[in-house]
Amino acid sequence: MSLFIAEGLFKHFGGLIAVDRVSLTVEPGEIHALIGPNGAGKTTLVNVISGLLPLDAGRIILDGVDLTALPPHQRVRHGLSRSFQITRVFNNDSVLDNLLLAVQAQTGSSFRIFGRRADKSGLRERAIELAQQVGLGEALDRIARALPHGAQRQLDVALALAAQPKLLLLDEPLAGMGPEDVAEMVALIQRLCAETAILLIEHDMDAVFQLADRISVLDYGRVLTSGDVAYIRDHPEVQAVYLGTEAAR
Ligand SMILES: Nc1ncnc2c1ncn2[C@@H]1O[C@H](COP(=O)(O)OP(=O)(O)OP(=O)(O)O)[C@@H](O)[C@H]1O
Ligand SMILES: [Mg+2]
Repeated sequence: MSLFIAEGLFKHFGGLIAVDRVSLTVEPGEIHALIGPNGAGKTTLVNVISGLLPLDAGRIILDGVDLTALPPHQRVRHGLSRSFQITRVFNNDSVLDNLLLAVQAQTGSSFRIFGRRADKSGLRERAIELAQQVGLGEALDRIARALPHGAQRQLDVALALAAQPKLLLLDEPLAGMGPEDVAEMVALIQRLCAETAILLIEHDMDAVFQLADRISVLDYGRVLTSGDVAYIRDHPEVQAVYLGTEAAR
C-alpha cells in the first residue's frame, strides 16, 4: 500500500470547483511533484490535505491511518507536515527560539524518548540539528524576521521538519528566490527525501524535472495526467496546458 493516498478529493468555493475529484498517491521516499497553471487548485489541494480547509468529499490516508476527519494539528502528529506558498510573517524571536518552539510542540509524542531530565538539552539539540539540516546552522541567533527571503524559506522548511513528517507538503518552496537560493533549496529537498516523502508544488520546471520521481499535472482542479519526468516533458497536452503557458509568460 502507498504511504499516502488521497482519494476523490473535492473542494468548491461556492460555484467554483477548485479541486475536482483528485486522487493521488505518494510512495515512501518519493518526491511527487504537482504542477499546473495559476489557479489550477494546487494550493487548495494542499490546504485540504493539511486540513487547513475542510473537504467537501474524499479521503486522506497516511501510513494506513485515515486522517480525513482530523484537525490540522492531529494530522501533523500523524506525520503530515507542510510549508507555505507565502512565507509566513516571522516574529522577533531568533531562529533557534522559533525552532525550539516548533520542537517543543512535538513533546508528548515523539520526544518522550529524551526522558524528563534530558528534555531541555534534548530539545535544544534537536532544534540546532534542524537548523543545520536546512543550512541555517550559522544563523541560530539571527532574528527570524530580519533574515533574507531565502533563509526564511529554509526556516519555514525546518519548522515543518520539526514534526518529523512522513509526508512533507511543500507549496512553491522556490517562489521569489534568486538562482543561488534556488540551488541551495533544490539540494536541500534532494537531501530531505532520504527521511520523508514529499509532495512538491513548484512552478520552476527545471527544479521539478531535476527533483521529481513522478509528476502530476493539475488543470481546472483535475489531474490531467501523471507520469515520470520524460513522460510529462513530452506529453503534448501538458505542453499545451502548462509548459505552453509557462513559455508564453
Ligand atoms: N478561499 C478561497 N475562496 C474562494 N476561492 C478561492 C479560495 N482559495 C482559492 N480560490 C480559488 O480556487 C482556485 C484555485 O486556487 P489555488 O490557489 O488553489 O490555485 P493554485 O494552483 O495554487 O495557483 P497558483 O499557482 O497561482 O498558486 C482559483 O480560482 C482561486 O481563485
Ligand atoms: Mg498556489
